[in-house]
Amino acid sequence: MKDLAITTERLLLRPVCTGDLDVAAALGADPRVMAWFGGTLTAERSEQWLRRQIEHWRAHGFGRFAATFGGVVVGFVGLTRTEYDAGFIPGIEIAWRLAFDHWGKGYATEAARAVAREGFERLGLELIVGVTTPGNTRSRRVMERLGMVHARRRLRASARARGGSAAASRRVPAPQRAIEVSVSSSNQGPPLPT
Ligand SMILES: CC(C)(COP(=O)(O)OP(=O)(O)OC[C@H]1O[C@@H](n2cnc3c(N)ncnc32)[C@H](O)[C@@H]1OP(=O)(O)O)[C@@H](O)C(=O)NCCC(=O)NCCS
Repeated sequence: MKDLAITTERLLLRPVCTGDLDVAAALGADPRVMAWFGGTLTAERSEQWLRRQIEHWRAHGFGRFAATFGGVVVGFVGLTRTEYDAGFIPGIEIAWRLAFDHWGKGYATEAARAVAREGFERLGLELIVGVTTPGNTRSRRVMERLGMVHARRRLRASARARGGSAAASRRVPAPQRAIEVSVSSSNQGPPLPT
């Protein structure tokens, strides 16, 4: 999996591995990190989460990266197939989760920008979705910095272009697990900032 690593200005991103268990467990046990995921995870649930991410790489050839700075894992950022109805099926979601000590340094945006580029260029994706709750302002700000476009706005615009109305947005099924959806596309949204 070494050849799948990505280097950014400050970070090395490499596919998650079993050696990431301690960090995954620490993040899962931190209520600040897990506040928008329904609460903390036991070490056993974190291990299950990590094993699912490793299996995702094996099954799909893409997945979560461990983002490392100077050899230290600062968090997990990557792409995942959505297994729930976020209004875009099949959908590829971009996701981020950093250790609290590494918030406020720009690492999530830096890693996500590289991951999105990888998705569009190596994987040939046309659309990457991001899903979060309205209250998760830090996550929403990452989406804004990436230039992601809010799904409802995009759907209204495409309905107008077809001579229709905003009814298009009502036809999108309500996401089951989250109430906010943003989308970013290689050719339909604003370009990803470099
Ligand atoms: C969501 C999450 C990844 C965002 O992390 P973050 O650190 O706020 O986001 P970024 O890495 O983009 O950092 C941006 C901040 O770093 C600051 N920053 C400092 N140095 C910087 C640098 N060199 N370059 C860029 N930004 C820098 C920016 O000014 C910005 O500060 P602000 O928050 O005061 O506006 C993090 O809060 C998290 O892990 N939350 C828990 C998990 C979660 O909820 N995930 C999302 C589920 S949908």
